[in-house]
Formats: sequence, C-alpha cells, structure tokens
Amino acid sequence: MTDKANSDKPWSGRFTESTDAFVEAFTASVGFDWRLYPYDIEGSRAHARMLANTGVISESECEAILDGLEQISQLAAKGEFDWSVALEDVHMNIESRLTSLIGEAGKKLHTGRSRNDQVATDLRLYLRDQIDAARAQLRRLQQGLLLLAEREAATIMPGFTHLQVAMPVTFGHHMLAWFENLQRDSERLRDCRRRVNIMPLGAAALAGTSFPIDRHDTARQLGFTAPAENSLDAVSDRDFVIEFCSCAAPIQVHLSRFSEELVLWASAQFGFIDLPDRFCTGSSIMPQKKNPDVPELVRGKSGRVIGHLVGLLTLMKGQPLAYNKDNQEDKEPLFDTVDTLLGCLRAFADMIPALEVRADRMLEAATSGYSTATDLADYLVRKGMAFRDAHEVVGSAVRIAIDSQRDLAQLELDELRSLSPLIDADVFGVLTVEGSVNARNHFGGTAPERVREAIVRARERLDAD
Ligand code: ARG
Repeated sequence: MTDKANSDKPWSGRFTESTDAFVEAFTASVGFDWRLYPYDIEGSRAHARMLANTGVISESECEAILDGLEQISQLAAKGEFDWSVALEDVHMNIESRLTSLIGEAGKKLHTGRSRNDQVATDLRLYLRDQIDAARAQLRRLQQGLLLLAEREAATIMPGFTHLQVAMPVTFGHHMLAWFENLQRDSERLRDCRRRVNIMPLGAAALAGTSFPIDRHDTARQLGFTAPAENSLDAVSDRDFVIEFCSCAAPIQVHLSRFSEELVLWASAQFGFIDLPDRFCTGSSIMPQKKNPDVPELVRGKSGRVIGHLVGLLTLMKGQPLAYNKDNQEDKEPLFDTVDTLLGCLRAFADMIPALEVRADRMLEAATSGYSTATDLADYLVRKGMAFRDAHEVVGSAVRIAIDSQRDLAQLELDELRSLSPLIDADVFGVLTVEGSVNARNHFGGTAPERVREAIVRARERLDAD
C-alpha cells in the first residue's frame, strides 16, 4: 500500500493509487463552483457555531474556525485564493486551506456534515440571493414601463393581430401589457423562493448524523425558514434549481417577444421608436446602419435559458435516491441561467425608459390600416343591425376604400349610406382613431383615462410587494 497516494485529498485514506490525471480534471468542479465560496463560507460559519453551541466542538475551536474562514473569505474576495483542481471542488479547497491556516481545529469543521448536504445548502443560499437580484431588476424594468406608459398614455398606435393592423390602441396600454407579463414573472419567482429557502444542512451524506446537531439553530443563523424534513430528499433533489429555471424561461420568453417588437419598431419600415445610440452598434461595412443589438441579443439569449431548463430536467430524470455525482452538472446551466437572466433584465431596465417614441409614425400607421372597421360595425349594431350583418356591410366599405386607395374616414357619406341607410353624418365621430380608443373605456381597456387608472393600480401593486 502506498500511503502517499492522493495524500493531498481529504478522502485519500482508502485509496492505494493516485487518481488518473485526466480523471482528476474530468471529475473536478472547482473551475466553476468556486463561485459558491461566499455561500460555502457562510454555511460553514453557521455549522461551526452550531457545533460549538451543542458542545460537539469547543468554543476555542469554533473561534479558530471562524477566524480561518474570515481569512479565506478575504483572500477569495481579492482574487488571491489559489483554487486547486487536485482538491476537486470549492468545499475541499476551503476546508483544506482552513486546516493549513489553523491546524487541528480545521479538521473538525466537517464533523456531522457531508459535501452532499453542504453543496445543496450552498446552492440554495446562492439561489436565494439571485432570486432577490432578479426580482429587483424586474421591478426596475416594471417601473420604467410605468414611466413610459404614463408619458405615452394617450399616444395612438396600431394594435396588431397576426402582425396585421387590427384596432388602434394606446402606446401606454401596450406597455402595461408587458408590465402584467413581468408582474406574473416576479410573483412566480417570489413563490419559488419559498421552496428554495429550506435548509438541507444536517442531512449529511444522506441519512443524517450520529452527532447531537441542532438543525433549527443552523437554519435560523442562515435565514432559512426551516430545515428540510427528510435527509434523503434534502441531499438528492435539485427540483429547486429546475423550478428557478422554469421561472427564468418564461421571463426570457417575455423579453424575447418584447425584443422582437422593438426590433420591428426600430426598423425604417415601422419607424415607431428610436433606440438611443448607446444601446445600438453600427456595421463595419454599411455606414448607414444602426443595429438594435441589445434586443436582438436578448431574443437570442432566451434560447440558452430554455435549453438549460430542458437539460436540467433531463439531468434529474434517471437518478435514484439519494445523492449522485450527476448533480454536479447542475451548476453550469444554473450559473449561466442566472447570468443571462440578470444581464437581460438589466439591459431592458436601462433601455426601456430611454425609448424615444415617434407618435406621428404610429398615428399614421393606425390611421391607414382600416383599424376603425370594428368601430363602424359597432356603430351599426347600436343603430339596430345584427353584428354579423354589420360585419358584412363594413367589409364592403373596406373593399371600396381599398379599391379607391382611401381610408374609411375618407369615404363620402353617400357612399356609406349606399351600403346601409342606418349610417348618418355622426359616423365620422367613430371612424377616427381617437374616437376608437376613447370608446374602449372599461376596466382593462385602452382608453387613455383607463390607462392612467391602471398605472395608479400598478404602482400600488408594486409597492404592496
Ligand atoms: N462537487 C460536488 C457537487 O457539485 C459536491 C458534492 C460531492 N459529493 C460527493 N459525494 N462526491 O455535487
């Protein structure tokens, strides 16, 4: 037996030969999980205090551990901690450094715990922070949308279905639609946080520990709502990671759809908005170009977030209880989901209040697409005609307008009356886009007055959260 085999590794005892160099690199996770170090240290601090509180280690051992962890924390924060692949992961790197810093007491930190409950705890602490950061960015974006909606509450644009001009709406109303999407996204994250905030620590490898630990003490110190009920479940499931990603995916889908609109609207053909130069880039060959890179990238990045969700579901599906090394593969998709989400939200929160709206172009588009045809039908219904018949009459009016290259409001009264004698001169009041949006004056409608009321309610909802 070569007692020097793997002597640098905390688990070297039962091994007789060193790890294959390729296998060492293949199995290591420190290249990415080093990012968990602040949470790993936080968890270790709480664990050490609990061990001292329950008499498993002495007060002076606990002091030494806390002191060593503080030194490691400072080194790592300065980027001066030398992460070693031979030590596999963030947990063993920190523990090994602790022992070289403080000696014997460092070796006692791992009493009553395992890397299995440690990593699950680290991830939950990390994710809790990231959820809070994502919700803060969402909130900034929502506030920006409300500012824009307020500024453009009465600005008329064409509303689309099938990307064809459908009915006039107000730009403020359109922005509030995105506000509602994001509000649900934020609520989903809040709900997810409740399930993330449960503590695995104390589950140890899978079955718990024979030491008289106090899991409620550790949970309280770490701000968890409660310790996990079942030790096997605590170390093995990553459904909280999956759940977070299933909250992130719809956010990205919303941002991607919104991006698609911004890209269209910023085109010369639409010309509805100007994106400030600082959110765009130029072309290396075409001097006239100003490209909407930020929304394009957000739209593109949504793909990887959706992909990570599917990847994580697939990662879990074959795993028997309890912990399996497969779970090490949860980190890169999770970290990338978090980075992508926070980046996209930040870009949007910065960009939205800076949008320049071209009301003249939107009005022109709303006026030229027969967008008040439904208003004409409603007018006929109010005069006693059945809606299906009115639909038919208005279809003929649109046909005449198309053939003579005019808008509905430009048709002569006689032409309209030839289609139905119910039509009088007052019809021109409903054929304007202003008349159309003002008429949609009910809760949830597009009338400027209703938009302003909705903004007040939206602010109250943000404040209540
Ligand atoms: N790096 C590991 C992971 O991310 C930590 C837990 C390792 N546990 C073990 N029994 N090998 O999952």
